[in-house]
Amino acid sequence: MCGIIGYAGSKPCAHGVLLSGLKALEYRGYDSSGIASFQGDQIKIVKAKGKIKELEEKIKDVPESTCGIAHTRWATHGEPNEINAHPHKVGQITLVHNGIIENAAALKKAYEKRGIVFKSDTDSEVACACLAILYRTEKNKLNVLREAAKILKGSYAFGIMFEDEEGVLYGMRKDSPLVLGIGEDGNFLASDLSAFVRFTRKYAVIDENQIVRITNKEIECYDKDLKHIELKTQISEMDISTIEKNGYDSFLLKEIHEEGKVVMDTIHHYMTQSLHELSKTMIDLKKYDHLYFVACGSAYHVGLLAKNLIEKYARIPCNCEVASEFRYNSPILDEKTLVVCISQSGETADTLAALRMVNKMGIDSCAIVNVKGSSLEKEAKYVLPTLAGVEISVATTKAYCAQVAVCALLALHASIDHLSSLQIHMIEKQLLKLDTYIHKLISDTKLDGFVSSIINKKNVFFIGRGMDYALSMEGALKLKEITYIQAVAYPAGELKHGTISLIEKDTPVMVLISDEHLVDKSISNMKEVKARGAKILLVIREDLYHENIEADEVIFLPKVSEFLQGIVSIVPYQLLAHHIAAQMGCDIDQPKNLAKSVTVE
Ligand code: AGP
Repeated sequence: MCGIIGYAGSKPCAHGVLLSGLKALEYRGYDSSGIASFQGDQIKIVKAKGKIKELEEKIKDVPESTCGIAHTRWATHGEPNEINAHPHKVGQITLVHNGIIENAAALKKAYEKRGIVFKSDTDSEVACACLAILYRTEKNKLNVLREAAKILKGSYAFGIMFEDEEGVLYGMRKDSPLVLGIGEDGNFLASDLSAFVRFTRKYAVIDENQIVRITNKEIECYDKDLKHIELKTQISEMDISTIEKNGYDSFLLKEIHEEGKVVMDTIHHYMTQSLHELSKTMIDLKKYDHLYFVACGSAYHVGLLAKNLIEKYARIPCNCEVASEFRYNSPILDEKTLVVCISQSGETADTLAALRMVNKMGIDSCAIVNVKGSSLEKEAKYVLPTLAGVEISVATTKAYCAQVAVCALLALHASIDHLSSLQIHMIEKQLLKLDTYIHKLISDTKLDGFVSSIINKKNVFFIGRGMDYALSMEGALKLKEITYIQAVAYPAGELKHGTISLIEKDTPVMVLISDEHLVDKSISNMKEVKARGAKILLVIREDLYHENIEADEVIFLPKVSEFLQGIVSIVPYQLLAHHIAAQMGCDIDQPKNLAKSVTVE
C-alpha cells in the first residue's frame, strides 16, 4: 500500500501542503517518495529514496507551486529506488498510483512497439503510458480517462496531471480508496483523510469507477460513462491528536497507552451496562451452523481467539483461516454459514477478495472493521465496527485490542444462555472497568529482566495452550515485526515433537499461562524446556502463580473472565516488543519492508 495526496490551491503553498500530507501518509509506505508540481506550463518532478525527510531536503530547491501531486511508496513492482518512485511521467501525463495493474506486462510490450521507452520497472509507468498514448489521438481528457479504465486491469487509485492544463488535477479509482477534501483556499485528493484533515474537515468519498476533476475552486465528479454525479460531502470528526505523537517517542507506544480508551469506546458502542443489550447490537450467531473467521496477520490471531471462545461456550463449530489461504482452498460454505472477516484497514487485498468471493456465493458475511468507509465496511452484509480511531503504527496494538473486544462481545452474546446470572454479573462488572486493568498493567509491568534476556538472541520461543497459544502467536509477531528478532509461537505441548531440539542454554522461552484449566499442563511443558537450559520468561494470571513455579522472570496478569482475558494478556507482549525495539534503536513505527495495510495479493 502506498499514499497519494494531490492539492490544487489558490496560493503558492503546494509543496508544504503535499509534504504535510505525505508525512501523515508515511505509515502506508516509506521506501521512496516524490512530488510533481506545476511550474508555469511545465511539470517539475522531484523524487527521493528513503523517508519523506529526504524528499523534503530536495524539494527546497524548487520554487513553490499552487498545484501538485505526491506519493509515498511501498514497492511492489521494482526495487525501492528513485527511478521506480512516483510520480511517473510519459508524454503529457504525470501520475501517481496506488494498486496493481495486472495486465502491465502485456501492455508494456505493446507500448514499446509504439515507441514508448520505459525508465522504471513499475506497472504505474505502464498506466501512465496508457493515458499518454490515448491522449495522442483523443483530446478530451475525460474521454482519455474513461478509455483507460477499459484497458487497465487490476486495482488503482490515480492522481493525474496533464502538462497542458495548469492547476488542474484528475483522479480515478478502482478497488483502491480515494477521497476528496474540499477547502477554503483549495481542494485535495488523497488515499485517506488523514492526509488533509489538518487543512479541511469537509470531504467526499470517491466511489468505485468514478472520475474527478479538481481545480482550486471546483470539483467535478463523473461515473464511468462520464455522467455527472453530485458529490455527497461529509464532515470528518477525526481527532487530530490521533495522528500526532503527543509527546510519545513513537506512535506504537502512544497507541498502547490508548488501549484502555479504545476498548471502552468499542464496548460502549454495543452496550452500556448489561450484556442483554447485545441482543439489539450484535449479530445473532445462533441461526448459523458454522462460522468462518477470515483475516490476515494480527487480525487472524484475533479470529483464533474468537473461534476458541465461541466453540467453548456457544458450541457453534468455527473455522479460522488466513485470508490468502481461504480464497484458494475449497471452504465448505452454505446458507447456514456466516463468514466473519476481521480487518483494521478494511482494505487488505486478501481479506477483501475473500469477502467478495463469499458475497458472490450468496453466503452471509460480516466485517469486524476499524476504518469507516473502507471497502470491507461497504461490502459486508453485516458490520461490527471497532472504535480504535486512526492507527498509525504499522504494528497494530490498539486496533487488535478493539477487535478482541468485539469478538468477546460476539462470543458473550452467543453464549449468554449458557452463563449463570452470577457469571453474567461478574463479566459485566469486569467489562466496564477494562480500561483500569489495562492502565494498571501498562504502569506496573516491569520488563527489564525480559528485555535483557531477549536482546541479541537468535531465537525466541513463545508458548501457550488454547487462547494463550493464539496470544503467543501475536506476541511473536509483534517482536518479529519491530525488532527483527526471530520469534516463533508454539502450542506448549507441541515443542517436544521436534522444536525442542533448538533449545539451548539461555534460549528465551516466553510462557503465557492464563487458563486455569490448563495451568498444570503448561507448567509441565515449561519444565521440559527449563531442563534443557531455556530461560523461562513467564507471563501468568496472578492467582495461578505459586512459589514452586520456577521461572527466571515473571509478569502478573489480572484475573478476569476468560472472555476478556485476551484483551489484557497481550499488553505485556506489546510493551516488550516496544522496549526491545527502542533499546535496539529500531524504527518502531515504520519497520523495514512493511506497510500498514497490504492492498496487494
Ligand atoms: C500487525 O501488526 C500487522 N502489521 C499485520 O499483520 C496486520 O494485522 C495485517 O496485515 C492485517 O491488516 P488489516 O487488519 O488492516 O486487515
